[in-house]
Amino acid sequence: MRQSRATPEAGIAWLVPRSVKIESRRHSGTQERFDTTPQAHMKIVTIVGARPNFMKAAPIIAAVNEHNKRSAVNSDAPGGRPALTVQHILVHTGQHYDDLMSGCFFSDLELPKPDVHLGVGSGSHATQTAEIMKKFEAVLAGEKPDVVVVVGDVNSTLACALVTAKISLDSGGARPLIAHVEAGLRSFDRSMPEEINRVLTDHVSDLLFVTEESGLQNLRNEGVSAERIHFVGNTMIDSLLMFKEKADDSPILENLGLRKEAGRKGTGSSITRYALLTLHRPANVDHREAFLRILAGLEELAVDCPIVFPVHPRTQRRIKDFGFEPRLWLNGNGYDRIILTDPLGYLDFVCLMKHAAVVVTDSGGVQEETTCLGIPCVTVRDNTERPVTVEQGTNIVAGTETQSIRDAIRRQSGRRCADGVPQKWDGRAATRIVELLIQRHEEQASARTSPLAKPLELCKIQ
Ligand code: UD1
Ligand code: UDP
Repeated sequence: MRQSRATPEAGIAWLVPRSVKIESRRHSGTQERFDTTPQAHMKIVTIVGARPNFMKAAPIIAAVNEHNKRSAVNSDAPGGRPALTVQHILVHTGQHYDDLMSGCFFSDLELPKPDVHLGVGSGSHATQTAEIMKKFEAVLAGEKPDVVVVVGDVNSTLACALVTAKISLDSGGARPLIAHVEAGLRSFDRSMPEEINRVLTDHVSDLLFVTEESGLQNLRNEGVSAERIHFVGNTMIDSLLMFKEKADDSPILENLGLRKEAGRKGTGSSITRYALLTLHRPANVDHREAFLRILAGLEELAVDCPIVFPVHPRTQRRIKDFGFEPRLWLNGNGYDRIILTDPLGYLDFVCLMKHAAVVVTDSGGVQEETTCLGIPCVTVRDNTERPVTVEQGTNIVAGTETQSIRDAIRRQSGRRCADGVPQKWDGRAATRIVELLIQRHEEQASARTSPLAKPLELCKIQ
């Protein structure tokens, strides 16, 4: 197993590991300061680390930029009052570091370079989480933000939420608010590392931004107070809606021999029928027999049409460790129709999702994206923390046995899905989040300056 790539001497580690193609914008601990009064200034730190974080964070940064632009126009207007400015700091933990798992998403999603890169890299859960915590604590102490935004359910999410929950930035024990984007999702399967990350992150967070109705119910059932919970929609879907047209410019279908050049941006009639597959959950790919059972469930599909399989690095490693040859996976049937690729960039992957006859996956995010696109999806897991995708009719949770996967693929393959998307999956989730953060900040600032109010800590957990 690869160890942490940051050198021990790096300390706060503004250093970017050599294999990381993106650079951080800041290479020292010095802070940029905005020339505004304390009331008119708010500082937000957003954490990214692993592939699914980038799509969830990008719209939040875009919404902050939009807010700042509007504020500048308002305060320049005659008689306009100075508006609150948000300083945004992007911290990349380095949990994912390959260009195809991290760097490429910065250009595809038009993300700014990270301000700080912790360069943590791979390791066991404990090692990775602990490394992130150690390095993020130093960043937090230096930056002293008003809010830390964590997204999703990866180790970076929990590590940074925990550090923020326990830090003390002044003698009164003040600490930043913690905002969890994609709160409340539950698979009720504690063997999944992500479920542990979700539950713990939610319970130390001050602001819980929920993507679907089930999240509201789960948090209420766990006794989380209503004022901490906000149903805002889904920032991953904000990204999808923002980039799905641009994804049509991707050359991936031609590159994989699935479309003739003449059909580009056309009706789709020249596109070969194909399926799309992703697998990376440890329970599915880390055990040889479990992995083989899933692959056998794809045999019939491979005979029917080519299967494009962009392979996650965890899965690539397992395929190598297990000595898997596609011929072996499918008992020799249709193995030559499996198109193996490295992980793909976001625009290429969205393009492939849009035109697939069926998507077979164990990804959380892909279940949601196929729902939004109206593409039939077969989830190779025993449960989902995203039940709205099943209620909406696009997704079937197939389990992980060969026959149940085969049956679900038969039901889903090429089926037309009904129109309609879940409530608030409308491309405005990030705008709602930024508005709520600003509103909360202004309420706290006015409470601090009111002669009647006692000085407030930055936050108190209910
Ligand atoms: C992590 C998340 C998972 C998420 C997935 C998205 C946790 C606990 N898991 O799982 O929730 O669905 O990301 O893709 O946070 N590797 C590389 N290059 C990279 C990154 C990883 O080669 O850039 C390899 C390493 O061998 C590493 C393995 O992939 O040990 C697993 O990476 P890790 O981040 O630990 O977990 P994921 O399976 O990627
Ligand atoms: N994705 C991608 N390239 C790929 C596979 C997935 O860009 O080769 C995107 C996908 O569209 C979605 C996100 O990655 O936006 C999902 O990440 P992943 O499946 O790694 O994590 P999960 O959602 O399971 O946590």
